[in-house]
Amino acid sequence: MQAHICILFLLPLMCIPEPVHCSINPCCYFPCEKKGICVRFGYDEYECDCTGTGYYGKNCTIPEFWTKVRLFYKPSPAFYHYVLTRFKWLWDIINHTFLRDLLMKTVLTVRANLIPSPPTYNSDYGYISWEAYSNVSYYTRVLPPVPEDCPTPMGTKGKQELPDPQIIAERFLLRRKFIPDPRGTNLMFAFFAQHFTHQFFKTHGRMGRGFTRALGHGVDLGHIYGDSLQHQHALRLFQDGKMKYQIINGEIYPPTVNDAAINMTYPPHIPDEKRFAMGQEVFGLLPGLLMYATIWLREHNRVCDILKAEHPTWDDEQLFQTARLILIGETIKIVIEDYVQHLSGYYLKLRFDPELLFGVQFQYRNRIAVEFSHLYHWHPLMPDRFHIQGDTYNYQNFLFNSSILLDYGVEALVDSFSKQIAGQIGGGKNMNHNILKVPVLVIMESRLLRLQPFNEYRKRFGLKPYKSFQELTDDKEIAAGLQELYGDIDALEFYPGLMLEKPQPNGNFGESIVEIGSPFSLKGLMGNPICSPEYWKPSTFGGTIGFDIVKTASLQKLVCLNVKKCPYVAFHIPKKQSSDESTPTGKEPSIEL
Ligand code: HEM
Ligand SMILES: *[C@@H]1O[C@H](CO)[C@@H](O)[C@H](O)[C@H]1NC(C)=O
Ligand SMILES: *[C@@H]1O[C@H](CO)[C@@H](O)[C@H](O)[C@H]1NC(C)=O
Ligand SMILES: *[C@@H]1O[C@H](CO)[C@@H](O)[C@H](O)[C@H]1NC(C)=O
Ligand SMILES: *[C@@H]1O[C@H](CO)[C@@H](O)[C@H](O)[C@H]1NC(C)=O
Ligand SMILES: *[C@@H]1O[C@H](CO)[C@@H](O)[C@H](O)[C@H]1NC(C)=O
Repeated sequence: MQAHICILFLLPLMCIPEPVHCSINPCCYFPCEKKGICVRFGYDEYECDCTGTGYYGKNCTIPEFWTKVRLFYKPSPAFYHYVLTRFKWLWDIINHTFLRDLLMKTVLTVRANLIPSPPTYNSDYGYISWEAYSNVSYYTRVLPPVPEDCPTPMGTKGKQELPDPQIIAERFLLRRKFIPDPRGTNLMFAFFAQHFTHQFFKTHGRMGRGFTRALGHGVDLGHIYGDSLQHQHALRLFQDGKMKYQIINGEIYPPTVNDAAINMTYPPHIPDEKRFAMGQEVFGLLPGLLMYATIWLREHNRVCDILKAEHPTWDDEQLFQTARLILIGETIKIVIEDYVQHLSGYYLKLRFDPELLFGVQFQYRNRIAVEFSHLYHWHPLMPDRFHIQGDTYNYQNFLFNSSILLDYGVEALVDSFSKQIAGQIGGGKNMNHNILKVPVLVIMESRLLRLQPFNEYRKRFGLKPYKSFQELTDDKEIAAGLQELYGDIDALEFYPGLMLEKPQPNGNFGESIVEIGSPFSLKGLMGNPICSPEYWKPSTFGGTIGFDIVKTASLQKLVCLNVKKCPYVAFHIPKKQSSDESTPTGKEPSIEL
């Protein structure tokens, strides 16, 4: 019977002639539930290591007593999402009481606990190993790869061959008509997302997939200061802690590669005097990224002036290093209180306060996971055209066009990007054709890295696996198409699952991006060393003035302290002046459609 299965699945390598051991790797069935770890014994035996899961039994499926009690009281993610995005009157009260801090602390610990720390696997090591721990050139992985010797690419479910990624992209992801984000997310948000995340998502093509060039694995501001000391030094002025800059029309802009010798990624036809030098090599790609690079450069030098006035005896190095820590703090503050606040749609007023975690067990370290990188491919945010001060740019006029930053200036770009609505991320059929190659590459990479099925990730993050494609999406055409191409919901891949899941009511994506993405995000933000009890004190930031800059940072201040005239600046398009206070997440009219 087993020999029969073996021939059926054409796995001659698994057949050892004498005695006949020919069996499927039992871990291909993903038998261990509740974060249990599958270990193969002999040829067709396995054991689930259920240590610390709160469950026991062959497959870690039987809850221990306290787990039963906990399960009884634990609301589903859908339930608490419902509560957090409704009952504004209730939250208006909670925002002003100790309950706010208590809830914030709960959110942080519950989410962060889902991320293994220290990190565990990577794309070459599906088991705990010293190499995986110590070689930080790898992205880590939350779930080990699908074993190499499984009957199907996704384990045991689905077809022998996965569908053509190009077909998946064209049928389910390609935009037909622009779908605006129902939460009013704008391009200011989209470019912030891209700018911020490209400090820790820097896939290293040369070493094969699964490697990163961003060895800081978190919010180290490598996108502003470079990912190596050599790069950083090329960008520094070595005077008063400042970064190199140039003055054009009386305003500060990043230097060109003539003044800061860095190999930036630009197409060959762009001359050196139009190549801006920045911490991230690819930021010449979009005027939105150049805009943020300019704002943060101005902020760094502004903070240096403040520090220098306080500490006239400090040398360049100490001014630079301290300013960098202040900017890291500002970034985390803005990401939690402006960016994640907008993204979540929660009425609970989120709070960045490292002291919330001082009483609990928490590891101040972080390792970026390849699953997080895939999850963050939010290319549907990008519109079909970019509108700046009444002018319209298509992709050909916009990409790598460094004149746009100088011709309009930071104020005008902030104002225009803040007023243009972005696309809805989840639900499918909303990616501009110019960037459709990106999801194709993501899917190809996930196969190379043997990422586990979407439903295995759902389970890993405490969600119920979907039973059918109809349950995944309300779009009948997509559900039928996926059924035809994948054959089995348990064989659906990670990225298509995330992008095609039905969005939450008035949300920009589905439940899985929220429940899988937030743990990575919060762990990365709070796991930063500046949040630790040893660092989180005024002296780290040059005294009370520096500490206050961190504690009061906001997107609004970041922009307006660095431009002459304060424009409209937010992560959502202007809310229409209506009395409809009860539905702030309701459909916003799209400005330019
Ligand atoms: C017009 C705008 C954009 C263009 C042309 C673009 C293009 C690309 C390209 C060509 C890649 C490399 C794909 C690969 O080799 O696998 C990439 C990667 C990526 N993009 Fe975009 N993108 C855009 C906007 C965005 C936005 C708004 C986000 C939002 C978060 C985003 C997030 C990412 C991420 C996380 C990666 C992976 C980076 C890495 O691992 O090195 N992109 N993008
Ligand atoms: C454990 O999981 C395997 C594979 O999914 C299944 O065949 C088996 O019946 C399960 N055993 C128990 C005791 O639940
Ligand atoms: C509570 O916080 C939410 C989110 O920031 C906000 O929409 C709401 O107006 C706040 N309520 C009060 C009274 O501050
Ligand atoms: C990390 O692993 C890769 C692949 O094995 C190897 O090429 C690289 O040298 C390792 N890095 C270090 C610092 O050992
Ligand atoms: C830039 O790239 C060229 C060619 O690859 C190389 O010779 C040069 O050393 C690089 N310069 C820097 C500053 O990295
Ligand atoms: C770049 O933008 C400028 C406006 O700043 C515009 O005049 C020019 O045509 C654009 N370049 C290209 C190649 O489209």
